[in-house]
Amino acid sequence: MKKCSLFRKASDIKTGVIGYGPSFMMGKHHLDGMTEAGMRICAVADIDVERCKAAAADFPGIETYSSAAEMLAKSDVDLITVITPHNTHAELAIQCMDAGRHVITEKPFAISTDECDAMIAARDRNKVMLSTYHNRHWDGWILNARQKIESGIIGDIIRIDAHLGSYHKPKDWWRSSKTISGGIMYDWGAHFLEYSLQLLKGRMVEVSGFMHQGFWGPSTCWKKDCIEDEAFSLVRFDDGTYLKLLFSNLDSNPKPGWLEVCGTAGNFMIQPNTWTAYCQESSGPVVKDGPVGDSETFRFYQNIVNHLLGKEDLVITAEWARRPIHVMDWTARSAAANRTLQAKYP
Ligand SMILES: NC(=O)c1ccc[n+]([C@@H]2O[C@H](COP(=O)([O-])OP(=O)(O)OC[C@H]3O[C@@H](n4cnc5c(N)ncnc54)[C@H](O)[C@@H]3O)[C@@H](O)[C@H]2O)c1
Repeated sequence: MKKCSLFRKASDIKTGVIGYGPSFMMGKHHLDGMTEAGMRICAVADIDVERCKAAAADFPGIETYSSAAEMLAKSDVDLITVITPHNTHAELAIQCMDAGRHVITEKPFAISTDECDAMIAARDRNKVMLSTYHNRHWDGWILNARQKIESGIIGDIIRIDAHLGSYHKPKDWWRSSKTISGGIMYDWGAHFLEYSLQLLKGRMVEVSGFMHQGFWGPSTCWKKDCIEDEAFSLVRFDDGTYLKLLFSNLDSNPKPGWLEVCGTAGNFMIQPNTWTAYCQESSGPVVKDGPVGDSETFRFYQNIVNHLLGKEDLVITAEWARRPIHVMDWTARSAAANRTLQAKYP
């Protein structure tokens, strides 16, 4: 069923999701967010019949389908959010766009730069909307950090040091498979890169990737295909700023904070709940801190609705979503090739 609609009000937009997984109840989260934004939730597709039953229990009367193909054939939903494991995002998104539907994928947008390009081409040939669920664009701590850093609290940014690490064996689930998840960076890396690229305004010039593999692999059930033990990326921008990104399951000395933004007049720590800035003032070094404000995640679907009604530009465009994927993809390719790679998309 091919469909391209013009909408007059939010409730004209009929929505569905593909994937109603149990891990974080993301299907329910999305359907609740779509409802809150005023859209009409209609359908769920999941290859697991038990998950279709769970959706029907959570949303009595909702249509359920055992595959994306069945949903596309039988349902006239206008907008579909894809909430499945990472290696399925590109294929499902293209299938939906070729059926004339507007599409949002969960993060990460896709795994490779080539997949992103194919998705953008499908968007353009079908004249539909394509976005990805960068809900964390509106996290309280990044909204707060942007406001404080842009007001000059640490001077000019020279570098961001983003890291997440601890010493642990990967869990027994699909996120520990490199083929399915994309690798150790692809879960929180998508968020950390999206945070960082909001702050670093230069054009991306080159990516150097470093990876360690094989320590945990033999001891996990994903042994043929385990994610890296550690991945490190160094990204150079044309204004002289640079980004260091580290994800590690072999870090015995976890660092405080998530993102440390280093400026000419101080360092700013981005982390949940509280912010801290180590500032250089004329009177000497001063430590400032405080709570972060509430997250405004609802703004994602609010923007989607306003965009589909022709009232606002799309905030999370496919071109924006491609940048974090490009860094993670180039990191792996650079590590494998043992050399720095020029960025294709700045
Ligand atoms: N934005 C966030 O804050 C956030 C939080 C959690 C998860 N996620 C993302 O959500 C996505 C799903 O993660 P999850 O934790 O919900 O996984 P999950 O394993 O709990 O659920 C995935 C669901 O997809 C279904 N599925 C798999 N392939 C399918 C297909 N081809 N067609 C239809 N259904 C299919 C599975 O049966 C399962 O029910 C991932 O991209 C993940 O990174 C994002």
